[in-house]
Amino acid sequence: MTYPVAVLPGDGIGHEVVREAVEVLEAVGERFGLKWEFHEASVGGQAIDQMGIPLPSETLELCERSEAVLLGAVGGPKWDQLDYDIRPERALLGLRKELGLYANLRPVQLSSPLADASPLKREIIEGLDLVVVRELTGGIYYGQPKGIELLGTEERGINTLIYTTSEIERVARLAFQLAAKRRKKLTSVDKANILESSVLWRKVVIRVAQEFPQVELAHMLVDNCAMQLIRDPRQFDVILAGNMFGDILSDEAAMLTGSIGMLPSASLGGRVGLYEPVHGSAPDIAGQDLANPIATILSGAMMLRYSFNQESAAEAIERSVLRVLEAGYRTSDIYEEGKRRVGTAEMGDLIVREIEAGG
Ligand code: IPM
Ligand code: MG
Repeated sequence: MTYPVAVLPGDGIGHEVVREAVEVLEAVGERFGLKWEFHEASVGGQAIDQMGIPLPSETLELCERSEAVLLGAVGGPKWDQLDYDIRPERALLGLRKELGLYANLRPVQLSSPLADASPLKREIIEGLDLVVVRELTGGIYYGQPKGIELLGTEERGINTLIYTTSEIERVARLAFQLAAKRRKKLTSVDKANILESSVLWRKVVIRVAQEFPQVELAHMLVDNCAMQLIRDPRQFDVILAGNMFGDILSDEAAMLTGSIGMLPSASLGGRVGLYEPVHGSAPDIAGQDLANPIATILSGAMMLRYSFNQESAAEAIERSVLRVLEAGYRTSDIYEEGKRRVGTAEMGDLIVREIEAGG
């Protein structure tokens, strides 16, 4: 089997972390007999510098021809002054929409060797294992009307929060399917005490739940959910949320582990899945061999699982990451006294060696 993958390193630390993830995928490919065909293209600030726009059509076409996309990160201070429509971040919105990636999965698992990196007490987070499923191609990010208009002497900024039945149904179904394979608990997040779009959200989620009698469904208002994530995060298995609520809650959930440099994500729904670390481009440490490549490496594991149905290869990556952490190796972001500090490239190499050794 040959797997064509579009590789979009993007900006900042994107190049360094993607390079390590590609090496890890090569190693796991050797071991499990999978052949990769990696094709690189530019996106974000890099594409703005080269071609004047954040998502050139060549890049989008490459993604459409591939079976999966591995992305690093986009953005940085260099492009902050640009007009909103041509900023690097627009590339993400374009890719999501064009590739039909309506569901974003952000698993948050506490890696036990890192339990002390969390700002929360060990008793609250030990064994934490949840997934945020965020709707990714609708809601207030895309609703019309939007814009900034002149209104007499002042300006008015507008965004519109819209959800249709079918948009809610498809992401809810995907979240229920995931919950059915996990601990069978789904918490749907909304603001149904105030927003009509949330009233519809809740109604549709209840209807989809009838297809999954084995999954227990709970509804939670978004403000309460933000609080519950800190109070008792282990009550959650799958959290389902709309685009903006999911954006906010997934950052909050990511920080529960204390190490955002560890968290992968998958964006699914279309023919081609997109895999990227949850962290950003970290321009302050770019090019210094300081970034943690683990989030991108684990995104590669998600690619194997969700795009290529290679569960054993995915688990081999996850196990190798765990072994390297257990052996005491740490990049700077997760370093604690008494551990062995390594750079981006060495962390990648350690994981590669663990895979080669059959870990
Ligand atoms: C994310 C990011 C993006 C989002 C930004 C960079 C557009 O915060 O992927 O969570 O809001 O979706
Ligand atoms: Mg975000």
